[in-house]
Amino acid sequence: MTTTAHNGSAAGDLAARDADVIAGVEKLRFFPLTIAGGNGSEVTDADGRTLLDFSAAWTAVGLGHGNAAVADAVRDALASGCSASILSATHERAVLLAERLLQMIPGKPDRRVYLGHAGTDANDVALRGCRRATGRQGVIAFSNGYHGGLGLAQGVSGVHVESGGADAAADSVLLTYPSAALTDSEARTHIDQIRRHLQTQTIAAVIVEPIQSDGGIIMPHPEFLPALRQMCTETGTLLVCDEVKAGLGRTGRLLAIEHNGVQPDVVTLGKALGAGLPLSAVVGPASVLDEPAASALMTTTGNGASCAAGLVVLDELDDGSIIDNAAAMGEVLTALINQLRASDRPGARLIDEVRGRGLMQGLQLLPNGTDDALTTSAKAAFRAFELGLVVYPVGDGALELTPPLTISRGECVRGMELLAQALDDVAEGAVSDADIAPYAGW
Ligand SMILES: Cc1ncc(COP(=O)(O)O)c(C=O)c1O
Repeated sequence: MTTTAHNGSAAGDLAARDADVIAGVEKLRFFPLTIAGGNGSEVTDADGRTLLDFSAAWTAVGLGHGNAAVADAVRDALASGCSASILSATHERAVLLAERLLQMIPGKPDRRVYLGHAGTDANDVALRGCRRATGRQGVIAFSNGYHGGLGLAQGVSGVHVESGGADAAADSVLLTYPSAALTDSEARTHIDQIRRHLQTQTIAAVIVEPIQSDGGIIMPHPEFLPALRQMCTETGTLLVCDEVKAGLGRTGRLLAIEHNGVQPDVVTLGKALGAGLPLSAVVGPASVLDEPAASALMTTTGNGASCAAGLVVLDELDDGSIIDNAAAMGEVLTALINQLRASDRPGARLIDEVRGRGLMQGLQLLPNGTDDALTTSAKAAFRAFELGLVVYPVGDGALELTPPLTISRGECVRGMELLAQALDDVAEGAVSDADIAPYAGW
């Protein structure tokens, strides 16, 4: 059996140095992955081992690793002395990026774009702006939602609140996400609960993921998002759609919420927007994003290098072929998963359900022996890593499959072969509790 005891290897040495110097608070580790380089859907570790990346660095590299057009654009921007900041001076790349986002993302007239560093600050700024614009303090978010790792965005994140990682934000409430797993009548009960909160006229905004991703790739019930749009309109509440992970082509449309026929008031973007560089955006009404001036300042937001990367990403999305590829490869992946599930391989019995859209697929696992589903997914991800596949656990025992939007059919097949082997090995007890003990995960 392949093992990856890195003791004495370059990867092992790097992991040990990392443990000594890099803060634990910013790590979400499931196995000892080191990265020395990457190309397309593959990464190379510090020992020169190549792994297929079915996470796209948690979707940050939608265009794939080492994208040449991004590298050229960023190099040009830096070499030409591009602006490091939009705080006190403007520059062409930032204005162009904002203009193009406004063209691509549908909405009412008189909108603005906030350029930020990460999904976290984008959501924080969006929610603060909604509070100010409406004069209300309340925020509705959903259990199992994830909107960020700091501040208000963390405070309305169900994933972390439930795990005790952060205090809930004041005046916020976490309600049940009416998911596709519910019956119509159950979904309506939860929609009615949201309505009752909105009717108090104290809620500034509802923040919602069109597919809950870190919560376990949970799909919305078909009635949920259209009903939410209507209830928000009726109660003067702003609808903030967090497209940080599901947006920008991943589901086979530019925005994931397009599948639900809903137009939000505010859209937040991040991850893939910067192609691996720090870049996020909020697109929303001027009334939410213009005032008070100078109230959301970070020196290097809107810097020329990040904007240069963002412009390449928007070019690729405008061209449309990577969005079509995401839709087509999503079907390939789903078919391969269903084929595996129907097989008589030992690992097939660990698969409970497949959920998702396009290149955002979740494989819900079942408990294995004395292990609950969460432990089973951690062991499956660990074994997949040993075999050469990067895939992360999310939610309550799901594996998240979110490869780069550029992935090929052959890579989908190869990745699923590795995943099938990993599940077989886990089903047969190949991964011990001690193997995964060093990795705290979520
Ligand atoms: C839906 C969603 N929103 C916001 C965030 C936070 O983004 P970031 O980690 O870039 O701050 C994430 C990150 O996982 C996310 O999945």
